[in-house]
Amino acid sequence: MGDKISRRKFLGRATCVAGGIGAVSAVYPAVASLAPDKAALAQSIAKFDISGLKELKLATIPYKGKPLFIMKFPAGFTPKKWGGKAEESINYKIFKPLLAKQKNVVAIIGVCTHLGCIPIWEKNGGKNGIPVYYCPCHGGVYTPWGDNIAGPPPIPLHIPKQKLVGNTLIVG
Ligand code: FES
Repeated sequence: MGDKISRRKFLGRATCVAGGIGAVSAVYPAVASLAPDKAALAQSIAKFDISGLKELKLATIPYKGKPLFIMKFPAGFTPKKWGGKAEESINYKIFKPLLAKQKNVVAIIGVCTHLGCIPIWEKNGGKNGIPVYYCPCHGGVYTPWGDNIAGPPPIPLHIPKQKLVGNTLIVG
């Protein structure tokens, strides 16, 4: 009798262990596939040498599958020509300290916040020759620091986390 019970217990435990191994084998590949691979992780940070940038000339690099606009602004660049409203704007509050910290270079995600088109940098395209980003899809207009000022875009262009280390702008 005692033999029968211990054999039953043994078989029960063996079944549990086998089932557990089977479950782990089935779940592990699915969980492993959710982890970001090295290529994806590498793309989550963009690095750009700013030493060759020319003032108000747009450089574009890929970042997380989107265009990243990188711009060097002239020293003393101010938004006065926008009637001072920029001082209260969402993006300008982020943009202004970045200018000071990053040798007048700031990166902005180049994807229109209306329906996702890529805006065009128009160095002399705004009123009175003021530079703007212009979205050709539905006529959205953004300031050089990405605030939406005309057309259908509902919110500013996104300014990602960034810092300057030496002459390398690191975004992400
Ligand atoms: S997608 Fe840019 S204005 Fe519509």
